[in-house]
Amino acid sequence: MGMKRVCTGFLCLLTVLILSSSVQLCDGGITSNYVRKYNSNVDMPLNSDVFRVPPGYNAPHQVYITQGDLEGKGVIVSWTTPDEPGSNSVLYWAENSNVKSSAEGFVVSYKYYNYTSGYIHHCTIKDLEFDAKYYYEVGLGNTTRQFWFVTPPKPGPDVPYTFGLIGDLGQTYDSNSTLTHYELNPLKGQTILFVGDLSYADNYPFHNNIRWDTWGRFIERSAAYQPWIWTAGNHELDFVPEIGESKPFVPYKHRFSTPYRASDSTSPLWYSIKRASAYIIVMSSYSAFGTYTPQWKWLKNELPKVNRSETPWLIVLMHCPMYSSYVHHYMEGETMRVMYEPWFVNYKVDVVFAGHVHAYERSERVSNVAYNIINRKCSPVRDESAPVYITIGDGGNQEGLATEMTQPQPRYSAYREASFGHGILDIKNRTHAYFGWHRNDDGYAVEADSLWLLNRYWKLEEPSVALS
Ligand SMILES: *[C@@H]1O[C@H](CO)[C@@H](O)[C@H](O)[C@H]1NC(C)=O
Ligand SMILES: *[C@@H]1O[C@H](CO)[C@@H](O)[C@H](O)[C@H]1NC(C)=O
Ligand SMILES: *[C@@H]1O[C@H](CO)[C@@H](O)[C@H](O)[C@H]1NC(C)=O
Ligand SMILES: *[C@@H]1O[C@H](CO)[C@@H](O)[C@H](O)[C@H]1NC(C)=O
Ligand SMILES: *[C@@H]1O[C@H](CO)[C@@H](O)[C@H](O)[C@H]1NC(C)=O
Ligand SMILES: [Fe+2]
Repeated sequence: MGMKRVCTGFLCLLTVLILSSSVQLCDGGITSNYVRKYNSNVDMPLNSDVFRVPPGYNAPHQVYITQGDLEGKGVIVSWTTPDEPGSNSVLYWAENSNVKSSAEGFVVSYKYYNYTSGYIHHCTIKDLEFDAKYYYEVGLGNTTRQFWFVTPPKPGPDVPYTFGLIGDLGQTYDSNSTLTHYELNPLKGQTILFVGDLSYADNYPFHNNIRWDTWGRFIERSAAYQPWIWTAGNHELDFVPEIGESKPFVPYKHRFSTPYRASDSTSPLWYSIKRASAYIIVMSSYSAFGTYTPQWKWLKNELPKVNRSETPWLIVLMHCPMYSSYVHHYMEGETMRVMYEPWFVNYKVDVVFAGHVHAYERSERVSNVAYNIINRKCSPVRDESAPVYITIGDGGNQEGLATEMTQPQPRYSAYREASFGHGILDIKNRTHAYFGWHRNDDGYAVEADSLWLLNRYWKLEEPSVALS
């Protein structure tokens, strides 16, 4: 329950006056009292339709794509062949064209405890046209498979674009419901921003990596056709020295590619891309990020590079939220917040999306950057330069929902609810974007929470731009 005041007339007015003059942030926001339908948090069985292996000798499976360069003219296609390495090539052609091109990739495989992976292929297609539909084909001989994708428009300030937000997905019946709701959402997300914790294979004995394979086949129906932008979460660590697995991120790094070199990053775990009117910075909550670390150094150089006249929407993805008022994982993002919140406020990041907490929450625009050890200024205050923080770790994995919330609802928390769902960020132009959160229990078009985001840069730097 949030703080609720029952008041009438003069007393109410007085309360409002006192509250608004004595604190910068008024009452806590909304704690939804919606009670979701019961689901049992079990993974779909191995013989489920969504995990079916495509027929044919050495048929490619787990086909998925992500952005392959800085600007959106490149695509990385990944796929796995089970029996032999086969071909590393991707054949591709523009819609309405019969000129076929071929790109050459590479193949990797890995062992994890007593599991041996299939042949995992990664192939970057470069120099595509912007805003064009392409077909592509992977595999050899009788067992080729064909898919398609649409490249984004050239980056520019007023290019509309629609991103889907999914986190902590897993592979339960709820996960399938989340993906179905995203697919059938009439707002039609064009790219998924995935905020980490993918398969939850690590919850099985010896991190049974067969559950990484089933996950790859589960998401193929979406991820083979539109890019999923990857962020690593704690369930990607697969760090188990007791069974000899003492190198973190081994399955994740073999299976998922990111275009990190294009943004001068030295690690696939943190990188950035431009896509349409957005500049998206992906961070790694589980890699070193303190002062002088590679991630810190990279981000320090990266933020000044963002040209808000070209890509007005500055979006940060990370797994562990910096603001979350749920009991589960409470304050785990505090070290990251202390390190990076001042930068996010300085550079006027528009929105920070995170996962990790298996629920939904949206913050007010707040910052907590005044504290200097001795001045006691350690509470969040309203700050128009600050991002909105959105936790969207509600994909529906087997660990179930985080239902326990800190009480009372803190003032920085605008809306919180423990239900599974997905988000849609619908960028309209340089000043306006619309964010909606869709819970799985509602119809495909229903938003349980939504707000207009007014771009931080254009709002603050260009007061002449009319904002409603
Ligand atoms: C791996 O080891 C576990 C535990 O000993 C066993 O249950 C499983 O069948 C083994 N898997 C393979 C592929 O050998
Ligand atoms: C394709 O399938 C046919 C019929 O099953 C088989 O005879 C042929 O050898 C296969 N070709 C390849 C390249 O696998
Ligand atoms: C997953 O969802 C899809 C699309 O709604 C449906 O066709 C499929 O049967 C579902 N699979 C399971 C195991 O629930
Ligand atoms: C920023 O982007 C705008 C619009 O694309 C462009 O005109 C300008 O030259 C860029 N500025 C810099 C410093 O690259
Ligand atoms: C930007 O989009 C908003 C919302 O659709 C609209 O109200 C506004 O007029 C647009 N601005 C411009 C300059 O077109
Ligand atoms: Fe997590």
